[in-house]
Amino acid sequence: MTPSPRHASLTMSATAPVGVFDSGLGGLSVLRAIRAQLPDEALIYVADSRYAPYGERDDDFIADRTLAIGQWLVAQGAKALVVACNTATAQSIALVRQQLAIPLVGVEPGIKPAAQISRTRIVGVLATQATLRSIRFQALLDQYGSDCRFLCQPGHGLVEAVEQCDINSDALRTLLQSYLQPMLDAGADTLVLGCTHYPFLDAAIRDIAGEQLTLIDTSIAIAQQLERVLGRHALLASHDSHAGLPRFCSTSDGAHQRQLAALLLQIDAPVEQIEIASRRTAPPEYLSSAEPRP
Ligand code: DGL
Repeated sequence: MTPSPRHASLTMSATAPVGVFDSGLGGLSVLRAIRAQLPDEALIYVADSRYAPYGERDDDFIADRTLAIGQWLVAQGAKALVVACNTATAQSIALVRQQLAIPLVGVEPGIKPAAQISRTRIVGVLATQATLRSIRFQALLDQYGSDCRFLCQPGHGLVEAVEQCDINSDALRTLLQSYLQPMLDAGADTLVLGCTHYPFLDAAIRDIAGEQLTLIDTSIAIAQQLERVLGRHALLASHDSHAGLPRFCSTSDGAHQRQLAALLLQIDAPVEQIEIASRRTAPPEYLSSAEPRP
């Protein structure tokens, strides 16, 4: 029997890079935490900005792109993959785990920590439409949130704003206020940032909510989880490996990625423009010529 890709053995080296992927620029908030936790790791970051936001896409599209980008990162020599996107994790982590032969770390909204700290037992959740409708998200609520009231709000328009490097405009604040005010009025004391783009809006959220809401951002927990996973597979880079700057890649022109990384992560690195074809995005003639012929 041919082993499934998950069980096929890949010879991976601890000096190989970790692949980090998001629909766009949000995963940079996770990359920031990974660099702080694991400064010796070389990183390749892929922003699928050409097709963001994923949150308004159908489930098959999200799975198709997630798998294609995961496969591309494996082909680039990634030793592990961080799916730094709640939406992609919610819709396709099981499929990607089945198909890729490298260790994987996904992200999910911090429902568990929110339920642990909320005193009013009223918790706001901002996430994409696709995350909120997913079975995985519903399972999280069932598992950890039974005695809390969760006010779940799709963050329509927020990913688009961050993709344009807008983290502070009047229009953005008005939009955020329309999402947060009903939570504040209902007595929420905790807000789950259920999308990796949203930590970049923390200052705007603070201006609206003051100290009433404790923000739950899981990026540090994800970086710690990555450390555990790499350790388990003997893939942690040694302290004398000189990781250098991340390799930044984008399926769009990368201009906003460079700007946001410089502004919020103090990383000034060029962004490679890449093309990653997939079943749902390639022209049919590309796919038929790319498929192996019998
Ligand atoms: N950063 C992605 C997430 O965490 C945004 C998804 C989108 O593109 O809508 O869900």
